[in-house]
Amino acid sequence: MRKDVKHLISLQDYSIDEITEIVKLGKMIYDSPEDYSEKCKGKILASLFYEPSTRTKFSFESAMLRLGGNIIGFSDANTSSVSKGESVADTIRVMSYYADIAVMRHPKEGAPKLASLYSSIPIINAGDGGHLHPTQTLTDLLTIYNYKGTLKNHTIALCGDLKYGRTVHSLIKTMARFSTKRFILISPEELILPDSVKRFLKDNYDVELTEVRYIEEVIDEIDILYMTRIQKERFFNEEDYLKLRDSYILTKDKIRPAKQDMIIMHPLPRVNEIAYEVDDDPRAVYFDQAQFGMYVRMSLISKLLGGE
Ligand code: CP
Repeated sequence: MRKDVKHLISLQDYSIDEITEIVKLGKMIYDSPEDYSEKCKGKILASLFYEPSTRTKFSFESAMLRLGGNIIGFSDANTSSVSKGESVADTIRVMSYYADIAVMRHPKEGAPKLASLYSSIPIINAGDGGHLHPTQTLTDLLTIYNYKGTLKNHTIALCGDLKYGRTVHSLIKTMARFSTKRFILISPEELILPDSVKRFLKDNYDVELTEVRYIEEVIDEIDILYMTRIQKERFFNEEDYLKLRDSYILTKDKIRPAKQDMIIMHPLPRVNEIAYEVDDDPRAVYFDQAQFGMYVRMSLISKLLGGE
């Protein structure tokens, strides 16, 4: 283990200036990707996914390749010695010899943090259970910065599974630091934002929290509408999931009263919560958001490897 290695486990460990720098570099890379095509030449990214992923895994891998680096790793831990019972700690000790930086998604909260304690290379948390997803938050920040020109003073509505959605927890905690005016929390009673997150916001920030059940009640007040999927994989039984899975379906009719410059975001994958008819609305930016994820990860990798 090396104490001077910088990891990304939670954005709470990063200053506002550091986060802003990553986002702004992401925008510069988005504007001129060719300027960064050799930034990580000769470096190797280990991509360690103990849980399924499309966007996070492939955007990290694409990011490293576009920076001129290489990738190794697994997308099914059962194809590695994890299937023989190898611990996260031992896996990362060994991977530290083979790679220069590692990105890890794991179903258990705290697994990337544990890995960082045994690692001599930077570890990036790519999602740990229902806990945090800091690089999705960086993706969200770059998207907001691109469309709104600032990260400050927005009214942000988060809709769907606010209980299990790790993207929600990461985003709220970070946007509160960027002087968000108001969070509107839209969820069924069973999936409300955990008390611990609400308490954290109330104790630390001067931010207004409004909780409602239906999007229609608040649609005309929103600057950023962040839709989320009901997290099937976190439910203890199928029946509870089936009862809640279609709680929200955003349609053209529902967004008619919304501000013209509202943006609709979603970390994806979507299941049913945004009708396909909404995709053509200029306010729907969720596919661009997935693209920004690659650029902000290029920025993060460059920074952690000391290239910027
Ligand atoms: N947004 C997100 O984390 O997507 P994946 O699960 O596909 O990586």
